[in-house]
Amino acid sequence: MTNSTIDAQTQQPAVCVNNARKAFGDKVVLHDVSLSIMPGEVVSIIGPSGAGKSTMLRCLTLLDTYDKGEFSYGDIKVTTQGPHGAVYDKQAMKAARMRFGIVFQNYNLFPHYTVMKNICDAPVVVQGRDKAEVEAEARELLKRVDLTEHADKVPCELSGGQQQRVAIARALAMHPDVMYFDEATSALDPKLTADMHRLIREFAASGMAVGIVTHEMGFAREVSDRVCFLIDGTIVEEGTPEEVIEHPKDPRTKAFLAHAQD
Ligand SMILES: Nc1ncnc2c1ncn2[C@@H]1O[C@H](COP(=O)(O)OP(=O)(O)OP(=O)(O)O)[C@@H](O)[C@H]1O
Ligand SMILES: [Mg+2]
Repeated sequence: MTNSTIDAQTQQPAVCVNNARKAFGDKVVLHDVSLSIMPGEVVSIIGPSGAGKSTMLRCLTLLDTYDKGEFSYGDIKVTTQGPHGAVYDKQAMKAARMRFGIVFQNYNLFPHYTVMKNICDAPVVVQGRDKAEVEAEARELLKRVDLTEHADKVPCELSGGQQQRVAIARALAMHPDVMYFDEATSALDPKLTADMHRLIREFAASGMAVGIVTHEMGFAREVSDRVCFLIDGTIVEEGTPEEVIEHPKDPRTKAFLAHAQD
């Protein structure tokens, strides 16, 4: 049984953050933010530039740390709240890193590796899985993202949209419970945006939790089960796209949406 299946049965969030705070020097960037994503749920974090979206994503993916708060992946408690702030558990961080994948805005592929090696390297080296088995799975993943004929190319021989799909296949090869996307569609044409929509909904249908950080209201509205508005480091409003994009209640959300539609 996969981790996702266990989580779905117990209805435990795939990822959960409670009362998180993050400051750079004396500038508080995240104030008391709480966010969770259930298995099979697609959640978008939307907000203006400088709101703290990327900081949130960096902390969720352990590239940076919260100063305060409780943070877990399924049953793995990454932090607990100590008297002086969040206490990170090294073993838990290592285990949590196996639970999520992220597709960065600039894809972050290894430029000198082929597509195949980009996908297979971490499952073989980090997870210690059998190379032949991982390669067979990588071929299936490449088929799924429509890149079968590009397996032996290096990233600079591919278009932006193709590189993004390699990054998706690479993240999926780690069997994550949670997939994060940073600005998933900002460089894509309408056909590729539609493909991305389909893939994200397929991931959710398979029980994966999906977290998306985006400026693009239209995409968030179409693909998300739940939208969280992050403004000045606070989630000011969250709900279904219908509730919060069509009928926002908070004056800060209303002002942001009025601007976004200009
Ligand atoms: N390493 C850092 N050191 C100091 N301040 C930082 C650092 N990273 C981010 N900030 C500040 O934190 C705030 C939030 O930045 P963040 O990158 O999270 O915003 P964002 O919501 O992702 O914005 P955008 O939509 O423009 O990408 C900004 O004021 C930014 O200047
Ligand atoms: Mg950002």
